[in-house]
Amino acid sequence: MMIPRIIFLLQFSTLIYLFTVYCFSSTDEEATALLKWKATFHNENNSLLASWTLSTDACRDDWYGIICINGRINRLNIANVGVTGTLYDFPFSSLRFLEYVDLSMNQLFGPIPPELGKLTNLVHLNLSNNQISGSIPPHTGSLTKLETLSIFHNHLNGSIPSELGNLENLTDLRLSYNQLSGSIPITIGDLTELKILYLGLNNLSGPIPSEFGKLKHLTDLELSYNQLSGSIPITLGDLTEVKVMYLALNNIYGPIPSGLTKLKILYLYSNQLSGPIPSELGNLKNLTHLDLSANQLSGSIQITLGDLTELKILHLFSNQLSGHIPSELGNMKNLTDLDLSANHLSGSIPITLGGLTELKILSLYSNQLSDPILSELGNLKNLTNLSLSHNQLSGSIPITLGDLTQINRLSLQFNQFSGPTPSELGNLKNLTDLLLSHNQFSGSIPITLGDLTELKLLYLYSNQLSGPIPSELGKCNKLTDLRIAKKQNWR
Ligand SMILES: *[C@@H]1O[C@H](CO)[C@@H](O)[C@H](O)[C@H]1NC(C)=O
Ligand SMILES: *[C@@H]1O[C@H](CO)[C@@H](O)[C@H](O)[C@H]1NC(C)=O
Ligand SMILES: *[C@@H]1O[C@H](CO)[C@@H](O)[C@H](O)[C@H]1NC(C)=O
Ligand SMILES: *[C@@H]1O[C@H](CO)[C@@H](O)[C@H](O)[C@H]1NC(C)=O
Ligand SMILES: *[C@@H]1O[C@H](CO)[C@@H](O)[C@H](O)[C@H]1NC(C)=O
Ligand SMILES: *[C@@H]1O[C@H](CO)[C@@H](O)[C@H](O)[C@H]1NC(C)=O
Ligand SMILES: *[C@@H]1O[C@H](CO)[C@@H](O)[C@H](O)[C@H]1NC(C)=O
Ligand SMILES: *[C@@H]1O[C@H](CO)[C@@H](O)[C@H](O)[C@H]1NC(C)=O
Ligand SMILES: *[C@@H]1O[C@H](CO)[C@@H](O)[C@H](O)[C@H]1NC(C)=O
Ligand SMILES: *[C@@H]1O[C@H](CO)[C@@H](O)[C@H](O)[C@H]1NC(C)=O
Repeated sequence: MMIPRIIFLLQFSTLIYLFTVYCFSSTDEEATALLKWKATFHNENNSLLASWTLSTDACRDDWYGIICINGRINRLNIANVGVTGTLYDFPFSSLRFLEYVDLSMNQLFGPIPPELGKLTNLVHLNLSNNQISGSIPPHTGSLTKLETLSIFHNHLNGSIPSELGNLENLTDLRLSYNQLSGSIPITIGDLTELKILYLGLNNLSGPIPSEFGKLKHLTDLELSYNQLSGSIPITLGDLTEVKVMYLALNNIYGPIPSGLTKLKILYLYSNQLSGPIPSELGNLKNLTHLDLSANQLSGSIQITLGDLTELKILHLFSNQLSGHIPSELGNMKNLTDLDLSANHLSGSIPITLGGLTELKILSLYSNQLSDPILSELGNLKNLTNLSLSHNQLSGSIPITLGDLTQINRLSLQFNQFSGPTPSELGNLKNLTDLLLSHNQFSGSIPITLGDLTELKLLYLYSNQLSGPIPSELGKCNKLTDLRIAKKQNWR
């Protein structure tokens, strides 16, 4: 069937040639084996694989997703074609010349057979985004030509086989979003060509191997959302190429290694970091994202953090930081998101924060901040959320807050603010939440609040407001929660 009729018109020598290539090559065997696997798919009539038929030639007739070299199947790419099936009948023994396999984004289920180890010519293997279960076969360590191995977002369990340390040419290893357990094998430190290592969103425990310090080419290290414990190995400071380090949501404690000069993103939130924020962090001049929230960091915020002028996101919330907010934070001109809430910070809000004109979120709630807030905060024209609640802030609200025309949420609850509620608040047309309760505001409720047509929550109770409830509030037809007087609710 592989020999077209036209062949009988060809010269004898050509015939011999074609005979050799098409009959004694293993293409036939390869194609037959693939069809045998296809026949086990639960949705056998997959339209994308309709080209895979007995009556066509896998190499010459463009089977979907197949590329051949010298009559042998070299690449198999059937990513995202809607295949439902298992790997039990995958032709591991027949497809000996495969270098590239991408089966990602299908509905493959069941285990990876140990015969995977027979595909010794594989350079790229991608099984990600399926429902593959069971453990990673140790035989994967036989695929020594592998450069990329992706099995993320599956249901793999068991531990990571130490044999993966044999894959000396691996540059990209992605096993995240599975249920892998046990400790990270120290042999992963032998993968000295690795650039990308994603093991996040698993159930890995034990320490981060200090052998990771050998991964000199690493640019992305993602270990978040595991049960990793112990301290961050100081050897990680040798990873001078690392740009992204996600170690969040583990049980890791400090200190944070120095070195890491190219780091852009450092996520260490929800760990057991304690003691002061290391002032050396100020050396990581390329940082754009720093998240140390939900740890037990104490002491004051280092003024050297102000050297991180590329920073866009600074999250230090839910720690035990004390002392003043350093005015040097005002040097971080690119900051869009500053969250220092739920700490023990005291003193006043530095005037320099008024220079952070890119800020969208400024969250300082649940601290011990005092004194009046400055009119300079009105410069933050891009602000969408300003949360200063649960502090000891006092004085009247500057009318410049009426310039924050992008703001969605303004929360000033549980402070000691006094004086009138400025009628300029009526300019904040995007406001959905206006929370002013538990202060000492006095005077009447401004009728301009009726202009806040997006308003959903309006809390004015526990103040010393007087006079009538303006009928203009009737224009706020999206209000779902209006609280004006203590222990009273209107809907
Ligand atoms: C697949 O297609 C063949 C021929 O078109 C048909 O006979 C068969 O019933 C189909 N199978 C399924 C599972 O739809
Ligand atoms: C593997 O496939 C996924 C799509 O499911 C893709 O996002 C990923 O980049 C691929 N990995 C490699 C190393 O090519
Ligand atoms: C690893 O890559 C190098 C350089 O490309 C090559 O010489 C070597 O044979 C490869 N190792 C294996 C096991 O394929
Ligand atoms: C892995 O999951 C399978 C079920 O898919 C279960 O039978 C097996 O015991 C699990 N192994 C480990 C080590 O958790
Ligand atoms: C994760 O591992 C811990 C032990 O380290 C075990 O107690 C727990 O059941 C595991 N969780 C899951 C979801 O496998
Ligand atoms: C920041 O990154 C650039 C480019 O990756 C690099 O040249 C520079 O040395 C880095 N800065 C520091 C302080 O290491
Ligand atoms: C801020 O961001 C801009 C554009 O993203 C960049 O050119 C600039 O170098 C950054 N740093 C400072 C301090 O403005
Ligand atoms: C506010 O955001 C816009 C768009 O993101 C940006 O162009 C502008 O520079 C930002 N800053 C100020 C002060 O408006
Ligand atoms: C504010 O409202 C305007 C007009 O409805 C809208 O275009 C803009 O995206 C809103 N800004 C925010 C931050 O919600
Ligand atoms: C900002 O305010 C909006 C509107 O109230 C809210 O949905 C959102 O969660 C807030 N974002 C942050 C980071 O507080």
